Amino acid sequence: MNRKHFLFALTATITIQAACDRGDDAGPRTGEFAAEPEAKAAPLAGAAKVERGRYLVNAGACNDCHTPWKVGPNGPEPDMSRQLSGHPAAFEMPPPPAASGPWIGAIGATNTAWAGPWGVSFTANLTPDPTTGIGTWTEQNFIDTIRNARHMGAGRPLLPPMPAPMYAQLTDEDLGSIFAYLRTIPAIDNKVPAPRPPVTAALAPATTSIATRN
Ligand code: HEC
Repeated sequence: MNRKHFLFALTATITIQAACDRGDDAGPRTGEFAAEPEAKAAPLAGAAKVERGRYLVNAGACNDCHTPWKVGPNGPEPDMSRQLSGHPAAFEMPPPPAASGPWIGAIGATNTAWAGPWGVSFTANLTPDPTTGIGTWTEQNFIDTIRNARHMGAGRPLLPPMPAPMYAQLTDEDLGSIFAYLRTIPAIDNKVPAPRPPVTAALAPATTSIATRN
């Protein structure tokens, strides 16, 4: 920006700021409609809540990581007959290849096992199965898990690549809708293995997140 443009921009900014300070905008001023009741949408419930959850799960890529992938007619795709059931217990993973050069991680063929500086993580079973899934969880357990990025909200920190910090920006109502939808998918009995700590000493700082798990 040359000097002339800079001065113009500066003047424009000051003029707008001054107008705002005077309340010159055309919109209503704070307090003018204070007597009117605040328009608030009714909380979602029932089928509408489940539908909202389905939308968020699909747009939020949960199937990308929590549904094991298979090779379908059009190439690799989530195997929806095992929808959101996490890393398949029967698909045993050997130790991951050592990190080399700028490559720091590896992904299992099902897209459900992940190796990196944090060790190896396996995507969780999100189906309503009571022993291997989240069937015994309450909506609050689910919200707290995402919000605090910890198992059940207060347990061990969730490992990468679970994007909990991003999903934590959703409202309680959206997270509750995701949970309501997860309640409606078929329960699948699949015990996901526990995460494994990193093997190389060079990556030791990342072990703290594993070491604090309970
Ligand atoms: C990029 C991959 C990825 C995506 C996308 C992803 N997850 Fe995860 N998720 C994981 C991994 C890996 C774990 C296991 C982390 C661990 O063991 O600490 C996990 C763990 C979880 C847990 C914790 C389960 C427990 O027992 O504590 C919940 C809940 C969860 N994910 C829900 C979701 C939902 C809902 C979505 C979509 C909105 C989603 N995840 C999308 C990778 C992913």
